[in-house]
Amino acid sequence: MLAAVYDESHPLKALEVVMPAARFVEQLNAQIGHEFAAHQQYVACAVHYDLLTMPQMASFFYRQAVEERDHAMMMVQYLVDCDAAVIIPAVAAPKSTFDDIVEPVRIALDQERRVAEQINALTATAREASDFASDQFMQWFIKEQVEEIATMSDLLTVVSRASHDIEAIEDYVAREQGSPDTDPTAPPIAGADR
Ligand SMILES: [Fe+2]
Ligand SMILES: [Fe+2]
Repeated sequence: MLAAVYDESHPLKALEVVMPAARFVEQLNAQIGHEFAAHQQYVACAVHYDLLTMPQMASFFYRQAVEERDHAMMMVQYLVDCDAAVIIPAVAAPKSTFDDIVEPVRIALDQERRVAEQINALTATAREASDFASDQFMQWFIKEQVEEIATMSDLLTVVSRASHDIEAIEDYVAREQGSPDTDPTAPPIAGADR
C-alpha cells in the first residue's frame, strides 16, 4: 500500500512511502498484547520460584519476562517507524498460583508454542499481502521462537526429572541458562538506548 507523507524539510513535497498492510498492522497490535501477557505470566512464574527460595529459577523467569516486554516494544518500534497506528491492548491476568514446581514451566512451554503459531500467522499475513518489509521484520521472531521453545522444552525435561531435587534444578539453570548474549541482529526496542 502506498501513502503520502510529508517531508518535514520540504513541507510541500509529499513522499511516497510503503505502508504495512492494514491487516498486518491490526494483527501486530494484537501481538503486542500477547507479548505483554507473556511478560505478566513470566513475572508470576518468577515470583512463584522466588517464594520457594529458588533464586536461579526466579532470575531465569524475571529475565524471560523482560525479553517478552522487549518483543512487545520491538513491535511498537516497527509500527512507529512505519507511521502505522499503535494501539496498546489490555491483557488478561496471568495464572499466578501453581500446584508444584513443574507447572509454571509447562505453562511457559505451552505459551511459547502458542506464540510461535501467532508469529507464523503474522508472517503468513505479510506474505499474502506482498508486504515484504513486514515479512522480513517477522523473520527474527521466527528464529527467536525456535530458541525459546527449545529452552523451555529442555527446562521442562530437567524440572520433571528432578522435581524432588531443587538443588539439581538450580544448578542446571545456573550452568546452562546464564545471562544471554546480546543479539546484534535483534530489531530495535522502542525507548531503549541503542
Ligand atoms: Fe515473545
Ligand atoms: Fe517468548
